[in-house]
Amino acid sequence: MIALDQENKIFTLHTKHTTYQMKADHNRVLLHTYYGSRVGGGDLSRLIQYADRGFSPNPSEAEGDRTYSLDTLPQEYSSCGVGDFRLPSIEFEPVDGSRLADLRYIGYELKKGKYSLPGLPAFFGGDEWETLIIHLIDSTCKMSVRLYYGVLESCDLITRAVQVVNEGGQRVQLRRCASLCLDFQQGDMDLITFDGCHAMERGLHRAPLRPGVQSVESVRGTSSHHHNPFVILCEHDASEDYGLCCGAMLVYSGNFLAAAERTQLENNRLLLGVNPYHFCYTLGPGESFTAPEAALVCSPSGFGQMSRQFHRAIREKLVRDPCQGRRRPVLINNWEATEFDFDAEKLVNIAKAAAPLGIELFVMDDGWFGHRDTDRSGLGDWSVNKKKLPGGLEALVPRVKELGMSFGIWIEPEMVSEDSALYRAHPDWALGAPGRPFTRGRSQLVLDFSRREVRDHIYESIRGVLNSADITYVKWDMNRSLTDVWSAALPAGRQGELFHRFVLGVYDILERMRRDFPHILIEGCCGGGGRFDAGMLYYTPQIWCSDNTDAIDRLRIQYGTSFCYPVSTMGAHVSAVPNAQTGRITPIETRGVVAMAGTFGYEMDLNHTTPEEKEIIKRQTAFFKEHYDLIQRGDYYRLSDPFTDPFTAWQQVSADRGEALVSMVSGSTHATAPFRRLRLKGLDPGAVYRVNGGECWPGDVLMAAGWPMPMPTGDYQSIQLYLKAE
Ligand code: GLA
Repeated sequence: MIALDQENKIFTLHTKHTTYQMKADHNRVLLHTYYGSRVGGGDLSRLIQYADRGFSPNPSEAEGDRTYSLDTLPQEYSSCGVGDFRLPSIEFEPVDGSRLADLRYIGYELKKGKYSLPGLPAFFGGDEWETLIIHLIDSTCKMSVRLYYGVLESCDLITRAVQVVNEGGQRVQLRRCASLCLDFQQGDMDLITFDGCHAMERGLHRAPLRPGVQSVESVRGTSSHHHNPFVILCEHDASEDYGLCCGAMLVYSGNFLAAAERTQLENNRLLLGVNPYHFCYTLGPGESFTAPEAALVCSPSGFGQMSRQFHRAIREKLVRDPCQGRRRPVLINNWEATEFDFDAEKLVNIAKAAAPLGIELFVMDDGWFGHRDTDRSGLGDWSVNKKKLPGGLEALVPRVKELGMSFGIWIEPEMVSEDSALYRAHPDWALGAPGRPFTRGRSQLVLDFSRREVRDHIYESIRGVLNSADITYVKWDMNRSLTDVWSAALPAGRQGELFHRFVLGVYDILERMRRDFPHILIEGCCGGGGRFDAGMLYYTPQIWCSDNTDAIDRLRIQYGTSFCYPVSTMGAHVSAVPNAQTGRITPIETRGVVAMAGTFGYEMDLNHTTPEEKEIIKRQTAFFKEHYDLIQRGDYYRLSDPFTDPFTAWQQVSADRGEALVSMVSGSTHATAPFRRLRLKGLDPGAVYRVNGGECWPGDVLMAAGWPMPMPTGDYQSIQLYLKAE
């Protein structure tokens, strides 16, 4: 609910558990007055303290009042170069070369429903949303700044976006435009970030903020394996079920900057948006720039509640799922089984072994097109390799369908190999600066997706493939970071727009694909989880979580991912052992339990499994299908921390608390194991639950005292408990 006090220019955004407030003061400076547990409202600007601080200057209107400084007041969207020395939200340069931005309030709009952002992904929905638009202006430069707020009360979600319009008569260069600025007035806080590398993504890192700026960012053109555009600021003692925490995510898939600053006043500013690195957007008179959407969930009661609210909002108001509430298929992908070495017979044999085990979708991975026998050639030539697949997709797809399975295909549209017909015809379509040698990644180059003709060509050739057979799933891959970021189609003064224009180009093709093939389920991928972000989730309902399929490493990767993103978005497969990435051997039961904490599928040649393993796989797919709603849409609870605890456990609970699924995986075993109990969460304390069809346990006992865990009798064992209220 958005409450307005027009006279005092106070804007209060209430969600189910939180309140957010801002106020335009007597100088029309937009102050941020509060964000935290839900409170009644009123004028919370009285929380703000005014005091003279040396070297914190005063704006002209302060008329000798040294206690009034932009440097000490909590700002809703910070200015630049006019007295606030903390992180600036915006920076622009008119022709006179000044870099000053002094934003003052001029008005607001209130609307039912949710705003949308043309060309950019954003949360969507109808009247369950309210929108507030605050208008600010730098009156000298005539730069108008519109702050958008979307409020989704039930999910405690507040979205933000920013539009900058050049209302002056001369061009202005926009050099920085954050999507979100948030000043917390409370003292000590921790910053949590999710970091890693290829095949080991989104590990949780937590540290108290030190004085100064601490940040994570991507300059790789994608959101990256290395840092995620999702961060948390929280109280020192915040934990899964206790304490104030505030998660902020960016709905964007390119370079980002997430920066937190602990100031001289020992309060904290959080800034999130497109990375100012190599960013310079020229706005002619009347032109505008829209900064991507950011979304906030504040939880007064720990991380678990914050995650569940993000999960619900992402599932229901961000992901556009072609399966529309129906079950997504259990898939098998041939990559780890064959890599590039396959032909039609090999693929059909993998499908043949999978179909009787309850697997429903066969995905043909990399290697089916052009001269793609290694990763050095073929990208860009999106037509079937007739040596491997002599009859083309027209012959292969019906053979898979005859087995009762649907068919999916891998593509990597943003890339080109130098050894390809496309590159030979259009060498200037690859990103690369004149006179400089290429920097290659996985031996490939990146196409200039800022160019319409490049996108049109790639899209048309992919459209031809998708029209040539009954294809119901696409894995959209992207296997390198951007380098040599220079476009033959942009003038020198506009090269600073290229990183962002590239992302807009990716979104453009994804949107076309959704429009033309609304029934196709697209799985995002970027060498696994290198572009696991809310921007991609708007187009691709699931994303391959990591190239690392080792069940034990996956526990950590999926744990970190779960802080923001729901189970239904995390691509996860059972693969062969010894694992291709780690060499580890884990039981097939455990691999199944871990993959079921994601979208669930297989990535191995099931012809090489024993009859016993086949029976286990049959049971796994049947179990997954039976409990699909609970697993994919249930409320998610983390029961342990795989970085510190000797076992990993998590739990899904149905909305009515009538059902729950508990999953546990132990680490390496030791003799004389301690007695352990696992305390469950989110159950109905008054209900009695039957566990795995056997004994009954009261919900309050399971939550207060816990469930006695059996002694592991080997490494990496797993247990699932299905609880049903009597
Ligand atoms: C990336 C993906 C893998 C696989 C290969 C194919 O690494 O993450 O799953 O598709 O590309 O080249």
